[in-house]
Amino acid sequence: MADERMRVIEIARPGGPEVLTPAMRSRPEPGAGEVLIAVKAAGVNRPDVIQRMGHYPPPPGASDLPGLEVAGVVAAVGEGVQGVGVGARVCALLAGGGYAEFALAPQQQVLPIPEGLGFEAAASLPETAFTVWTNIFDRGRFKAGESVLVHGGTSGIGVMAIQLVTALGGRVFATAGSPEKARACEALGAVRGIDYRAEDFVTVVREATEGRGVDLVLDMVAGDYLIRNQQACAVEGRIVMIAMLQGGRPPVDIMTLMAKRLTLTGSTLRARTSDQKGEIRDALLARVWPLIAAGRIKPVVHATFPLDQAADAHRLMESSAHVGKIVLTL
Ligand SMILES: NC(=O)c1ccc[n+]([C@@H]2O[C@H](COP(=O)([O-])OP(=O)(O)OC[C@H]3O[C@@H](n4cnc5c(N)ncnc54)[C@H](OP(=O)(O)O)[C@@H]3O)[C@@H](O)[C@H]2O)c1
Repeated sequence: MADERMRVIEIARPGGPEVLTPAMRSRPEPGAGEVLIAVKAAGVNRPDVIQRMGHYPPPPGASDLPGLEVAGVVAAVGEGVQGVGVGARVCALLAGGGYAEFALAPQQQVLPIPEGLGFEAAASLPETAFTVWTNIFDRGRFKAGESVLVHGGTSGIGVMAIQLVTALGGRVFATAGSPEKARACEALGAVRGIDYRAEDFVTVVREATEGRGVDLVLDMVAGDYLIRNQQACAVEGRIVMIAMLQGGRPPVDIMTLMAKRLTLTGSTLRARTSDQKGEIRDALLARVWPLIAAGRIKPVVHATFPLDQAADAHRLMESSAHVGKIVLTL
């Protein structure tokens, strides 16, 4: 198998979408505990854009190719792999290497394709499901009946967060950059979409909760949102940071932090160990995959592009015109 070649998309150098370059590479072989997937579809994520720009290097040992999630068919398994065999239809979370005809995944990061879904829909799930689960539930300690403010409500992360929290008994407020996107958040289940260009989310959330505020905030913006998130929180509220689209060293209001007994936390997914990701995978299989199979959480694929047009997929993502996920097809 080592001599066989595969089509990939390389990042030729840090830069704009045009640096995404079709190339040929050797097909990888699965090592112990690894699964080789013949990729049928690969999800595009904002971290791929940040990596392409040169600001998010792959963790040690990961592929230098972009691509954090795929769906496809198992082509080979390495020594010691259990529970998944050649020919199985799977999707997987990767630390890199998804923009390729074949991708390697540690077995702990491989999931069956939820019943009733095709490859494109399945490829749109792993990165957002893993990220939302671990941040809302593990870090954010969400419980049914709580209210959650989701920033970037129409992002790939946002569409998963709105649906998952709603399905598990939460009330979601979601911000987005236009009135149409705010309504799209409501169509996904948010009790109120907030057009942040026209409305102040702190005011909206406080009014809608009779001054109490929300229990949890999932934030990818940072910058001046951090102090406003504190203002939007209820007593004992939790703020979970997953990105910093508007700057990573914002001021914190210590008085409000103390007075409301807030928790400020956050995490990154990519650099965590396969065993840690395996624990999240097990929670997803038990709690989230049945909701997807039952149609209570629906993959939201905004657009698909052939692998060779990955640059156009990145252009669309950077325009922020999308609602939900962008997927590459093979
Ligand atoms: N920590 C982790 O483990 C982890 C894992 C995966 C992703 N992430 C992060 O989560 C975020 C969402 O990822 P994604 O793949 O879902 O991306 P995406 O679909 O491209 O969504 C990004 C969203 O952010 C909004 N946005 C863009 N620039 C902004 C700015 N300067 N200020 C405010 N909002 C802005 C856009 O919505 P509007 O146009 O409506 O503003 C857009 O919908 C990314 O920042 C990504 O890096 C973190």
